[in-house]
Amino acid sequence: MPTTVRLVVLISGAGTNLQALIEASADPAYGATIVAVGSDRPDVEGLVRAQLHGIETFVLPTADFEDRVDWDIALTETVSSFEPGLVVLAGFMKLTGPAFLGVFGGRTVNTHPSLLPSFPGLHGPRDALAYGVKVSGATLFVVDEGVDTGPIIAQVAVPVLDDDDEATLHERIKVSERAMLVDWVGRLARKILAGTAE
Ligand code: GAR
Repeated sequence: MPTTVRLVVLISGAGTNLQALIEASADPAYGATIVAVGSDRPDVEGLVRAQLHGIETFVLPTADFEDRVDWDIALTETVSSFEPGLVVLAGFMKLTGPAFLGVFGGRTVNTHPSLLPSFPGLHGPRDALAYGVKVSGATLFVVDEGVDTGPIIAQVAVPVLDDDDEATLHERIKVSERAMLVDWVGRLARKILAGTAE
Protein backbone atom coordinates (compact mmCIF):
# COMPACT_ATOMS: atom_id res chain seq x y z
CA MET A 1 0.00 0.00 0.00
CA PRO A 2 1.50 3.41 -0.97
CA THR A 3 1.75 5.84 1.91
CA THR A 4 1.98 8.95 -0.20
CA VAL A 5 0.45 10.12 -3.45
CA ARG A 6 2.95 10.95 -6.20
CA LEU A 7 2.59 14.58 -7.28
CA VAL A 8 3.84 16.24 -10.45
CA VAL A 9 3.76 20.03 -10.11
CA LEU A 10 3.75 22.24 -13.22
CA ILE A 11 4.98 25.83 -12.97
CA SER A 12 5.95 28.78 -15.16
CA GLY A 13 7.62 31.17 -12.76
CA ALA A 14 8.61 32.03 -9.21
CA GLY A 15 7.24 28.85 -7.69
CA THR A 16 6.22 30.15 -4.27
CA ASN A 17 3.18 27.87 -4.32
CA LEU A 18 5.50 25.02 -5.24
CA GLN A 19 7.76 25.97 -2.33
CA ALA A 20 4.81 25.75 0.06
CA LEU A 21 4.02 22.26 -1.27
CA ILE A 22 7.67 21.20 -0.96
CA GLU A 23 7.70 22.27 2.69
CA ALA A 24 4.36 20.64 3.51
CA SER A 25 5.31 17.37 1.85
CA ALA A 26 8.41 17.04 4.02
CA ASP A 27 6.01 15.73 6.67
CA PRO A 28 5.22 12.06 5.87
CA ALA A 29 1.75 12.53 7.35
CA TYR A 30 0.96 15.08 4.64
CA GLY A 31 0.12 12.28 2.22
CA ALA A 32 1.85 13.52 -0.93
CA THR A 33 5.38 13.52 -2.33
CA ILE A 34 6.53 15.70 -5.21
CA VAL A 35 8.19 13.37 -7.71
CA ALA A 36 8.80 15.94 -10.45
CA VAL A 37 8.42 19.60 -11.31
CA GLY A 38 7.85 20.66 -14.92
CA SER A 39 7.95 24.08 -16.53
CA ASP A 40 7.17 25.49 -19.95
CA ARG A 41 9.90 28.08 -19.34
CA PRO A 42 13.60 27.50 -18.68
CA ASP A 43 15.49 29.58 -16.11
CA VAL A 44 12.61 30.18 -13.74
CA GLU A 45 13.05 30.35 -9.98
CA GLY A 46 10.61 27.52 -9.38
CA LEU A 47 12.94 25.06 -11.13
CA VAL A 48 15.78 26.09 -8.84
CA ARG A 49 13.54 25.61 -5.79
CA ALA A 50 12.84 22.05 -6.92
CA GLN A 51 16.48 21.27 -7.72
CA LEU A 52 17.59 22.56 -4.31
CA HIS A 53 15.37 19.90 -2.79
CA GLY A 54 16.61 17.15 -5.08
CA ILE A 55 13.35 16.97 -7.03
CA GLU A 56 13.58 15.98 -10.69
CA THR A 57 12.72 18.74 -13.16
CA PHE A 58 11.86 18.99 -16.84
CA VAL A 59 11.32 21.89 -19.22
CA LEU A 60 9.02 21.76 -22.24
CA PRO A 61 8.79 25.15 -23.99
CA THR A 62 5.91 25.34 -26.46
CA ALA A 63 8.31 26.97 -28.96
CA ASP A 64 10.25 23.68 -29.20
CA PHE A 65 7.25 21.96 -30.81
CA GLU A 66 5.57 22.14 -34.19
CA ASP A 67 2.26 23.08 -32.58
CA ARG A 68 0.29 22.91 -29.35
CA VAL A 69 -0.96 19.42 -30.18
CA ASP A 70 2.59 18.05 -30.29
CA TRP A 71 3.50 19.97 -27.14
CA ASP A 72 0.46 18.61 -25.33
CA ILE A 73 1.39 15.04 -26.32
CA ALA A 74 4.98 15.54 -25.13
CA LEU A 75 3.73 17.02 -21.85
CA THR A 76 1.41 14.06 -21.38
CA GLU A 77 4.16 11.53 -22.06
CA THR A 78 6.66 13.27 -19.79
CA VAL A 79 4.24 13.68 -16.91
CA SER A 80 3.07 10.06 -17.37
CA SER A 81 6.64 8.82 -17.01
CA PHE A 82 6.55 9.97 -13.36
CA GLU A 83 3.33 8.02 -12.70
CA PRO A 84 1.61 10.73 -10.67
CA GLY A 85 -1.56 10.17 -8.70
CA LEU A 86 -2.27 13.89 -8.83
CA VAL A 87 -1.02 16.75 -11.03
CA VAL A 88 -0.91 20.26 -9.56
CA LEU A 89 -0.73 23.33 -11.78
CA ALA A 90 0.85 25.97 -9.54
CA GLY A 91 1.32 29.11 -11.61
CA PHE A 92 1.44 27.13 -14.88
CA MET A 93 0.52 29.70 -17.52
CA LYS A 94 -0.38 27.29 -20.34
CA LEU A 95 -3.58 25.42 -21.11
CA THR A 96 -3.29 21.67 -21.06
CA GLY A 97 -4.90 20.04 -24.10
CA PRO A 98 -7.01 17.00 -25.01
CA ALA A 99 -4.16 14.47 -24.82
CA PHE A 100 -3.23 15.61 -21.34
CA LEU A 101 -6.81 15.70 -20.08
CA GLY A 102 -7.46 12.30 -21.66
CA VAL A 103 -4.93 10.84 -19.25
CA PHE A 104 -4.99 13.22 -16.30
CA GLY A 105 -8.51 14.66 -16.46
CA GLY A 106 -10.15 14.51 -13.04
CA ARG A 107 -6.82 14.37 -11.24
CA THR A 108 -5.31 17.67 -12.31
CA VAL A 109 -5.95 20.72 -10.15
CA ASN A 110 -5.07 24.34 -10.79
CA THR A 111 -4.82 27.36 -8.53
CA HIS A 112 -5.88 30.75 -9.85
CA PRO A 113 -5.55 34.21 -8.26
CA SER A 114 -9.19 35.32 -8.39
CA LEU A 115 -12.56 34.24 -7.10
CA LEU A 116 -13.68 32.27 -10.14
CA PRO A 117 -15.80 32.46 -12.22
CA SER A 118 -14.73 36.13 -12.01
CA PHE A 119 -11.50 37.13 -13.74
CA PRO A 120 -10.21 33.94 -15.37
CA GLY A 121 -7.14 34.01 -17.60
CA LEU A 122 -3.63 35.33 -17.29
CA HIS A 123 -4.25 38.53 -15.30
CA GLY A 124 -6.65 37.75 -12.45
CA PRO A 125 -5.43 40.42 -9.98
CA ARG A 126 -5.08 43.10 -12.68
CA ASP A 127 -8.57 42.43 -14.03
CA ALA A 128 -10.09 42.42 -10.53
CA LEU A 129 -8.51 45.81 -9.75
CA ALA A 130 -9.63 47.26 -13.07
CA TYR A 131 -13.19 46.16 -12.36
CA GLY A 132 -13.10 47.75 -8.91
CA VAL A 133 -14.08 44.75 -6.78
CA LYS A 134 -13.57 45.13 -3.02
CA VAL A 135 -12.93 41.44 -2.34
CA SER A 136 -10.74 39.08 -4.35
CA GLY A 137 -8.95 35.86 -3.57
CA ALA A 138 -7.87 32.54 -5.01
CA THR A 139 -9.60 29.44 -6.34
CA LEU A 140 -8.48 25.83 -6.50
CA PHE A 141 -10.33 23.88 -9.16
CA VAL A 142 -10.26 20.68 -11.18
CA VAL A 143 -8.90 21.38 -14.65
CA ASP A 144 -11.27 20.83 -17.57
CA GLU A 145 -11.00 21.85 -21.23
CA GLY A 146 -12.06 25.47 -20.56
CA VAL A 147 -10.08 28.45 -19.32
CA ASP A 148 -10.38 28.27 -15.52
CA THR A 149 -13.86 26.75 -15.77
CA GLY A 150 -13.56 23.42 -13.95
CA PRO A 151 -15.35 22.37 -10.77
CA ILE A 152 -14.30 24.46 -7.77
CA ILE A 153 -12.63 22.63 -4.89
CA ALA A 154 -11.90 25.56 -2.56
CA GLN A 155 -11.75 29.33 -2.44
CA VAL A 156 -10.19 31.89 -0.13
CA ALA A 157 -11.11 35.59 -0.02
CA VAL A 158 -8.88 38.58 0.68
CA PRO A 159 -9.76 42.31 0.81
CA VAL A 160 -8.82 44.67 -2.00
CA LEU A 161 -7.41 47.84 -0.43
CA ASP A 162 -7.87 51.34 -1.86
CA ASP A 163 -4.16 51.82 -2.53
CA ASP A 164 -3.54 48.37 -4.02
CA ASP A 165 -1.74 47.96 -7.29
CA GLU A 166 -1.50 44.67 -9.19
CA ALA A 167 1.62 43.59 -7.30
CA THR A 168 0.35 44.32 -3.77
CA LEU A 169 -3.01 42.69 -4.43
CA HIS A 170 -1.42 39.61 -6.03
CA GLU A 171 1.00 39.27 -3.13
CA ARG A 172 -1.83 39.42 -0.57
CA ILE A 173 -3.75 36.82 -2.58
CA LYS A 174 -0.70 34.57 -2.79
CA VAL A 175 -0.23 34.45 0.98
CA SER A 176 -3.73 33.01 1.38
CA GLU A 177 -3.50 31.01 -1.84
CA ARG A 178 -0.46 29.06 -0.66
CA ALA A 179 -2.19 28.06 2.57
CA MET A 180 -5.30 26.96 0.67
CA LEU A 181 -3.26 24.97 -1.85
CA VAL A 182 -1.28 23.15 0.82
CA ASP A 183 -4.40 22.40 2.84
CA TRP A 184 -6.43 21.05 -0.09
CA VAL A 185 -3.73 19.15 -1.95
CA GLY A 186 -3.07 17.34 1.33
CA ARG A 187 -6.75 16.60 1.80
CA LEU A 188 -7.07 15.32 -1.78
CA ALA A 189 -3.97 13.15 -1.40
CA ARG A 190 -5.18 11.62 1.85
CA LYS A 191 -8.57 10.93 0.26
CA ILE A 192 -6.85 9.14 -2.63
CA LEU A 193 -4.80 7.11 -0.15
CA ALA A 194 -7.89 6.23 1.83
CA GLY A 195 -9.64 5.18 -1.38
CA THR A 196 -12.41 7.71 -0.80
CA ALA A 197 -11.62 10.13 -3.66
CA GLU A 198 -14.57 10.71 -6.02
C1 GAR B 1 -0.21 32.26 -8.52
O1 GAR B 1 -0.86 33.37 -7.93
C2 GAR B 1 -1.16 31.47 -9.38
O2 GAR B 1 -2.47 31.46 -8.93
C3 GAR B 1 -1.06 32.23 -10.68
O3 GAR B 1 0.29 32.50 -10.83
C4 GAR B 1 0.85 32.70 -9.53
C5 GAR B 1 2.10 31.88 -9.44
O4 GAR B 1 2.86 32.23 -8.32
N1 GAR B 1 -1.62 31.45 -11.76
C6 GAR B 1 -2.35 31.97 -12.73
O5 GAR B 1 -2.56 33.17 -12.85
C7 GAR B 1 -2.91 30.95 -13.69
N2 GAR B 1 -3.94 31.53 -14.51
P1 GAR B 1 4.10 31.35 -7.89
O6 GAR B 1 4.91 31.05 -9.15
O7 GAR B 1 4.85 32.22 -6.93
O8 GAR B 1 3.58 30.10 -7.26
